[in-house]
Order: sequence, then C-alpha cells, then structure tokens
Amino acid sequence: MRYEANCRSKDNSKVRYNTNTRKATAWRAKGEAMKNAAYYNGTISAIEDIKVPLEDRAVYFGDGVYDVAFCHNGKPFLIDEHFDRFYNSCRLVRIDFPYTREQLLEIITDLISRLDDRSDVLIYWQASRGTAPRNHPFPENSKANLLMYVKPKKITKLDVPMKLHTVDDIRYEMCNVKTINLIPNILAAQAAIDAGCDEAVQIRRRLFEEDGTEYRDVVTEGAHTNISILKNGEFITAPLGHFILPGIARSHLIGLCRENGIPVVERYITRAELADADEIMISSTTTLVRRACELDGAPVGGRDTVLFDRIQQLYVEKLDRDCI
Ligand code: PDD
Repeated sequence: MRYEANCRSKDNSKVRYNTNTRKATAWRAKGEAMKNAAYYNGTISAIEDIKVPLEDRAVYFGDGVYDVAFCHNGKPFLIDEHFDRFYNSCRLVRIDFPYTREQLLEIITDLISRLDDRSDVLIYWQASRGTAPRNHPFPENSKANLLMYVKPKKITKLDVPMKLHTVDDIRYEMCNVKTINLIPNILAAQAAIDAGCDEAVQIRRRLFEEDGTEYRDVVTEGAHTNISILKNGEFITAPLGHFILPGIARSHLIGLCRENGIPVVERYITRAELADADEIMISSTTTLVRRACELDGAPVGGRDTVLFDRIQQLYVEKLDRDCI
C-alpha cells in the first residue's frame, strides 16, 4: 500500500509526499507518532529507514549544502533567515534548488507534526546537486535532491560554561557557504574533544581580506559555532566575508546588542585578545549563546558576567517571544 498526499503551497505549486515506506504508511493508518521523521525526494519515513542512492553526489563528493534550524514550542525559530542562508548557499555553489521556501516549510511542518515530542526539535535539511555517475563536472539533466529530517533536541545547558581548544583554521575560502563538506570542521571538533574540551576555536595564521588587508593569527569561528567576545562593554565579533559562516544566532546577538545600547564591533580579534577577553561567547542555533571558562587549559572570561547574562537573557527571551 502506498500513501500519497498532495498539498498546494502558497505559490500554488504542488508538493507531493510519497510516504511509500511501510512504516510511514502504518503511521498514517494508525495515527502513531514517530520518534523522528525524515524526507528524501518525496519519501517520508523514520531516519533509519531513509535510503539515499549511492550516486547522490552528496555521497561521494559532498556536493551539497545544508542548514540547521530549531523548533521551539512547536514553532520553527528564525526560519526565514535559515531559508535565506540556504538559498544563498545554493546560489554560491550553483545548485539549482527546485523547491520554494513555502514548499520547504510545508515539508518541515508535516515532518514535525509526525513527532511524538514536538517541544524542542532540530530541523536539518540538505540539497545535493543531483544523482549521476561519478564525474566531477555538473551532471547534465539531473535535479537537486532534498534530504530533510527532524528529531527532538533539547536546548544545550545555557548555564554551563564551555572549554575551548584552539586549532589552525585549515579551511578554504568559502566558509560563508554552509557546505556539507565539513572535514576540517570535523577534525577541529574532534581535536577539541581529544583535548577534553567542548568546542574548537579556529585560528587563521594568515588571512587576506578582499581589499588586500592582511591579518595574522586571528580567530575566525568555532568548528560549528561563531565566537565573539565582550571587552570593555563592547560586543566584538569577526566580520562577515569568506572566512566565517554568517551565523543566525550571531546576527541576532548583534541585533539585540544594538537595540539595547551595547556597542557592537565587527572586526577580527587575535588569539591573544581572545585569551584576554572579559567574556568569550559561543553561539549557534542549537547552543544559543554560552560563555567559555577555559581556553587551551587556561582560565578565561568571567570578568563581565553581568553583561554576558543580560545578552544571554535577551536571546532566550527572543526565542520564547518568537515561539509562543
Ligand atoms: N552549525 N559556524 C559554523 C562553521 C557552523 O557550522 C555553525 C552552525 C555556526 C553557527 O551558525 P547558526 O547560528 O546559524 O547556527 C557558525 C550548525 C548548528 C551545524 O552544523 O550543526
């Protein structure tokens, strides 16, 4: 038996869900909730039952882009900004992504509606360039693949400070693209774990901005987070460009600081400045914003807890306000 649901999105294009796995069909029949839910090109099932073909270019080239959003109280948080970044990533790597944002939102909503626990949910989706025999240039006549999943995830412990470990930033110059090619980030994250830490801080030994300005030994970002500091009452964070991911949490921290009269400076900081920061702030969709207490084994931060707590509180209030 095969269950099909056709929905119309706001722009009147059709979204077709072929929930042709036995589990999804059974779920529909019995109305049972799922522990997690995934989607691949029209098929819906539990994550562990999704089948991705070997020749999906994500498998052998990592030829794709992704995004991660968070759903709180059943409501996706800042989803438009995640969509903006995702479509921009597609554009930057020339993936012709056929779904509209309304269609994406419909699939997200559908998947979330299937979960037994919908309070706090991680939403992951990726587009790969298509399915074709392995060959480096773009395949002809192949359509982008959409893979998505949702699963319950609690917000990380906001009051627990993090230990950081510095690593060389060995990535290329497209860090603004949220590519699924994450090997340097994975190595950085594991190096942090191996050092008994929670997150890595990536340091570029040499960095050239587009205007030719050269920087040395500067902090770019974490393995999977943005890194900012508080110093003398200012919120300081690396500028947008090719060397960091434009984090959604980062951009809202900037916005909240500005709205609340806290000066914001977007510039690179050195490792020495990081070590001497009043507070180090680690931000991401799933981390929200947390402080650091240790950098390469030495104590850091803890010198402006009042301002840190205020900014963290503003961010948590925003999450609660937006997701009523
Ligand atoms: N990581 N920098 C990098 C390299 C990241 O991978 C992430 C997010 C961020 C923070 O971005 P945002 O605030 O939009 O989450 C910065 C996600 C959560 C991940 O890969 O799982």
